[in-house]
Amino acid sequence: MADRERRAQTALPTIPLEEAERFSQRVLAWFDRHGRKDLPWQQPRDPYRIWISEIMLQQTQVNTVIGYFERFIQSFPDIPTLTAADPDKVMHHWSGLGYYARARNLHRAAGEVMTRHQGVLPDDLDSLQALPGIGRSTAGAIRSLAFGQYAPILDGNVKRVLARHFVIPGWPGNNGVQKQLWRLSEQLTPHRQTAQYNQAMMDLGATCCVRGKPLCDSCPLVQSCQALAEGDVSRYPAPKPKKVLPVRATRMLILTDPAGDILLEQRPPSGIWGGLWSLPECPPEQPLKDWCRQVLGCDVEERDQLRPRRHSFSHFHLDITPVLVAVKNPAKGLMDAGPRVWYKLSQPDDRGLAAPVSRILREIDRPISEHQSGGEAP
Ligand code: ADE
Repeated sequence: MADRERRAQTALPTIPLEEAERFSQRVLAWFDRHGRKDLPWQQPRDPYRIWISEIMLQQTQVNTVIGYFERFIQSFPDIPTLTAADPDKVMHHWSGLGYYARARNLHRAAGEVMTRHQGVLPDDLDSLQALPGIGRSTAGAIRSLAFGQYAPILDGNVKRVLARHFVIPGWPGNNGVQKQLWRLSEQLTPHRQTAQYNQAMMDLGATCCVRGKPLCDSCPLVQSCQALAEGDVSRYPAPKPKKVLPVRATRMLILTDPAGDILLEQRPPSGIWGGLWSLPECPPEQPLKDWCRQVLGCDVEERDQLRPRRHSFSHFHLDITPVLVAVKNPAKGLMDAGPRVWYKLSQPDDRGLAAPVSRILREIDRPISEHQSGGEAP
């Protein structure tokens, strides 16, 4: 670790008041002209809508979130409706957004708001952070954007703006670096117009101080940005130290019964695709027919393979080969062994499907002649 990095991780920065004031004034002036003010959760603006949007916006970009947000609010317009909803229906609305723990937590949190807060989303940071799925930055965003109260935030975009402007070395996931960035955010966030300032910082990071090629010419902080003065904005923030992700392989069985329905299984509540519906998976090294007989208790005939594909998680890559398999004698005990359904492609229902399963089902919902079979590397 370089000396500067070590020092930076122990000493917390202090910004003179006038400098903090100048910084926030520039950001607010930029927001007046360029900030996003007509996103669907900004009007009408109410705490529930802001909360849903902030959970969706964790790890997902605004443009992707908009459609999901509108469909979600249409189906679950308020906290009591969300609390009473079938968890499968909530997962269905999240299908494709990824990071499904967010949806499970949101549903649980709605229940807690009903029981602990009489159905009213609290506005203080401690109560917000006590709800499942709400961390310090999301609590700050909700408190400021929904209730107009002072609270600093530190999402990925804000981290990038601050790390560059104040040349904070090190990866922001590192505890010491994170402390520094929080300290900066606390000092720079104004007590008036906090909502506008926080929205502006997120927008600035998303549209101007972007990761790849920042648009420094249109940045309101161009005069004071220390990374720009050093001549190398791209050095900040430092990337996450690389680790090579392991690769796992699986075969997803598209088991069809004589009626053409497809067997789906519900995943256990925690872990990968927790609570979502997926296809049975046969380890690649096991003979498929034997596995089906032993695990599912049915005789099968392998029909075709779809093209292999890779699905990446934060900690491993999963290489999936979908295999079309006909079930000759659907065993009676098959449906007793766990949450399983025969899914009708022609009448899809509101259940949350794992994203690659949803894609596979869309692919096979076309004439069999269009299927690509075999061969292609994932
Ligand atoms: N990322 C997280 N919250 C956001 C927001 N309110 N606007 C834009 N991007 C965000």
